[in-house]
Amino acid sequence: MNKISWLFVRVLFFAFSYSKVFAQDNQPTDQVPWYKNSFFYNIEVGTFKDSNQDGIGDFRGLISELDYLDSLGIDAIWLAPFYPSPRKDDGYDVLDYYGVDAKYGTAADVKEFFEQAHRRGIKIITDVVLNHTSIEHPWFEASRRDVKSPYRDWYVWQSERPKDADKGMVFPGVQKETWTYDSIAQQYYFHRFYVFQPDLNYRNTAVQQEAFKIMRFWLRQGVDGYRLDAVPFIIDIPETGSENPQRMMDLVPQMRSVMEEEKPGALMLGEANLSPEENKDYFGENNSGMQMMFNFYVNQYLFYALASQKIKLLIKAIEETKEKPEAAQWGHFLRNHDEIDLARLKDRQRREVYQRFGPDTTMQLYDRGIRRRLAPMLQNNKQIRFAYHLLFSLPGTPVIRYGEEIGMGDNLELKERLAVRTPMQWSAAPQGGFTQAAKAFRPVIDKGPYSYKNVNVASQLKDPHSLLNFIKSTAALRKEYPEIGLGKFEVLKTNSKYVLAIHYQYKDKSLLSLHNFSDRPQRFKVKGELLKAKQLLSVTDGSTAIPQDITLDGYGFEWYKTSSDSIK
Ligand code: NOJ
Repeated sequence: MNKISWLFVRVLFFAFSYSKVFAQDNQPTDQVPWYKNSFFYNIEVGTFKDSNQDGIGDFRGLISELDYLDSLGIDAIWLAPFYPSPRKDDGYDVLDYYGVDAKYGTAADVKEFFEQAHRRGIKIITDVVLNHTSIEHPWFEASRRDVKSPYRDWYVWQSERPKDADKGMVFPGVQKETWTYDSIAQQYYFHRFYVFQPDLNYRNTAVQQEAFKIMRFWLRQGVDGYRLDAVPFIIDIPETGSENPQRMMDLVPQMRSVMEEEKPGALMLGEANLSPEENKDYFGENNSGMQMMFNFYVNQYLFYALASQKIKLLIKAIEETKEKPEAAQWGHFLRNHDEIDLARLKDRQRREVYQRFGPDTTMQLYDRGIRRRLAPMLQNNKQIRFAYHLLFSLPGTPVIRYGEEIGMGDNLELKERLAVRTPMQWSAAPQGGFTQAAKAFRPVIDKGPYSYKNVNVASQLKDPHSLLNFIKSTAALRKEYPEIGLGKFEVLKTNSKYVLAIHYQYKDKSLLSLHNFSDRPQRFKVKGELLKAKQLLSVTDGSTAIPQDITLDGYGFEWYKTSSDSIK
């Protein structure tokens, strides 16, 4: 080996050892966790695409649409439960944690789906529902039938009806109680959710071990992380009260350790509607808990701001949820597969949102929310784009749900949250191109302005001005500006009470994001030392402005580059 190649080998060796040391220390120099600046897309296999013409979506159908998903620019799919289940709660009532519902395909199909997604650089996060099982689960059967069975203690039983048995329901109005008498066991069992979803008893270490086993199992099959369903309820101790129970906070870092051990870097995305203070506990000290949490707190104030044009509370919520571990991230969303939960708003504020977005009682749910999709709520095309642009501008990772990209509507004739879970509208073909069967298992929206004949992927792909193309280009643009996902931010003051101004900084880059919540144009100045004398350059059309004099249309928005060197 001559001198030069020897030197080359040494340099390589040094570089390799150096990067390993950093990897072991868990302090990569320039590496950021993948989920921090990503774009997530939520799918239900059953309503996405049917490949075998039985009217039910399946994994082969989903695989056939991966190129479409890739073209949207998504980084990760959050997949709703696909496990065997009586599906009384759309799969959140699990019968077998290690299986695949035969309606959707085989274990081999699932593996292929994981592989094909990965080949396109798309990660997979699956829902894991650990708080409760289906009442038909063999564990519950064993538990209720035999007091001596080791499974007896896998669930939460009491001989006497607790005094607060009619408190702490997650689905008030539909669910009557949280403790129900089981005539087979001759005891009361606890269920935070529906009566057919008995809670597992996490004080029992055998249950904890089983949960860890489930988590390991799907990581080995290829998933990149979990959306952990109902986290606060997994760790609560119901015997200490239905409404304000004590919690086993230690379980969260334990779960995280299991994940890290099995697949370093795998994501735990927590579903928990909490106050900012409580959220901190779930993120944990030094990034020892959830790496990502859905920001339900901001979501409710965001809807209040959209309805009322008053942004003070939204700003407060954004600031209140600012503090989190460096490696952690918020998941921001507009709508998900459940109702918009407005429980934290004052009655008068909630009424204002109802009035604007869900005036009819059929649009409301559980005394706290609205069960509509975003498009029919906002109607105004301009406000829809505004809302999505805002979503891509919030400090966190944007999460959308299938069909949002085309502005799908809802079907209020379906019960509870099924209203927002209708089949994907691919084209103007019969059944919206979702299935070639004569009928879909759940009706496709075929009437009114949101019918598949008017709202579908095929027609929007062809239209450069469609919502679909707007979302695609916004997602692509966001990729070019990592300041939002990775940087530090500050909400800046303006002299318009309608304009939300967020200034992001990441390394030597900075970006100013502006949103006018009013339906009327606003001419305003952005205050603060930071922007003094700097020129602003629009990232969309290259136009310039100065912080002292900016105009935005009604529901207008803009991202401006602010670093002086990048706008030369
Ligand atoms: C939260 C899920 O988002 C919801 O759809 C489900 O009904 C409950 N958890 C119970 O699993």
